[in-house]
Amino acid sequence: MTHEIAVIPGDGIGKEVTPAAVDVLEALEIDFEFVEADAGDSLKEATGEALPQETYDLAASADATLFGAAGETAADVILPLRDAVDSFVNIRPAKAYPGIDAVRPETDLVFLRENTEGVYAGHEDRLTEDVATLTRVVTESASAELGEFACEYVSESDDHDGFTIVHKANVMRETDGVFRDTIKSVADENGVETDEVLMDAFATRVCLEPEQFDVIACPNLAGDVLSDLAAGLVGGLGLLPSANVGSERGLFEPVHGTAPDIAGEGVANPAATIISAAMMLEFLGYDEQAHAVHEAVEATLEEGPRTPDLGGDASTDDVTDAIIERL
Ligand code: NAI
Ligand code: MG
Repeated sequence: MTHEIAVIPGDGIGKEVTPAAVDVLEALEIDFEFVEADAGDSLKEATGEALPQETYDLAASADATLFGAAGETAADVILPLRDAVDSFVNIRPAKAYPGIDAVRPETDLVFLRENTEGVYAGHEDRLTEDVATLTRVVTESASAELGEFACEYVSESDDHDGFTIVHKANVMRETDGVFRDTIKSVADENGVETDEVLMDAFATRVCLEPEQFDVIACPNLAGDVLSDLAAGLVGGLGLLPSANVGSERGLFEPVHGTAPDIAGEGVANPAATIISAAMMLEFLGYDEQAHAVHEAVEATLEEGPRTPDLGGDASTDDVTDAIIERL
C-alpha cells in the first residue's frame, strides 16, 4: 500500500534538513509518495499567505506530514497544521546520545506535551493600550485524552514504570487542577503509576538529576519550554525530534526553528528531523525501518561526521550521506 507523505520544508534550515530526511526515507525503498507543499515566511512575502488552504488540506489528507520549520509565521503555520492532523499530543524525546558532549549524559526523557489548548489556545486580547489579556483553556476531555495516551505509551514498553505529571495547580488551581486531577484519575483507572512535580521545581530538578525522570505529561506551554530546556542538557536543539500524533494522522517535525544564524550555510544538523522521520516510520507501522534509522543516526552521532553545533565541521549533506551509508 502506498502511503502519501506531505513534505513541508518551510523556511530557513527547514529547507535544508527536510530534504535530508526525505533522502533517508527514499533510501529505505518503502512505497511512499512524497508530495511537497509550501508554507512560512517566504511564501507569505511572495503571496501574502503563510499557510495556503491547499497545504492545510494536504496535511489533513496525507497519511503523515514531515515539516521543517517556519520563521516569524511559525504560529500561523504550525498551530493550524497540528490541527489539520487532529493532533492532541506532541511527543518530544530528549535523550543524550553516546559520543555527544552533553551537559547531562544521563538524560533520557520523553515529554508528552498537550497539543491543543492551555495558553496556546489562541484567546489573546488587547483590552486597552495598557492591558493585554490571555485566556487559558484547559478541558477535562483534552486532559483525559493526554492521560489515556500517556498510559498507553508507558504500558507499551518495559522501559517505563509510569509517568510524571508536571503542572502548576498550586497557583492555577482551576486550569491545572483539571489537568492534574483528570490525568491522575485516568492513570489510576488504568493502574498506571504517576507522580507529580510543580513545573518550576521540575525545571531545577531536571537539570540537577535528569535520571529521576522518564516520561513527563505536561501542559502545552510547559512542554514547549521544558523540552527546549532538555535540549540544552543533551547537546542542543539539533538533536530533538517530535511527533504530533492524532488518532489517524501525524505530523513530524524537529523541535527547533529556522535557525536564521546558520540558515543557507548548509551546516544545519539534520539529526532532529531524521529522527522525527523515524518516529513517522514507527507511526506508520514500519518498525524495522524505524529501528534501522535510529541505529544509523546514533552510530553517526557517536562516530561522526558531525555538524558544527556538535563540535564537528561536516555539512548537512555529509552527515545525511553517512546516515544513509549506515542504514
Ligand atoms: P531556533 O531553534 O531556530 O534556533 C536556536 C539556536 O539553535 C540557534 O543558535 C540555531 O542555530 C540553533 N539550532 C537550531 N536548530 C539547529 C540545527 N538543526 N542544527 C544546528 N543548530 C541549530 O530558535 P530561534 O532562534 O528562537 O527562532 C528562529 C525562528 O524560528 C523564529 O522566527 C521562530 O519563530 C521560529 N521557530 C519556529 C518553530 C517551528 O516552526 N516549529 C519552532 C521554534 C522557532
Ligand atoms: Mg518551541
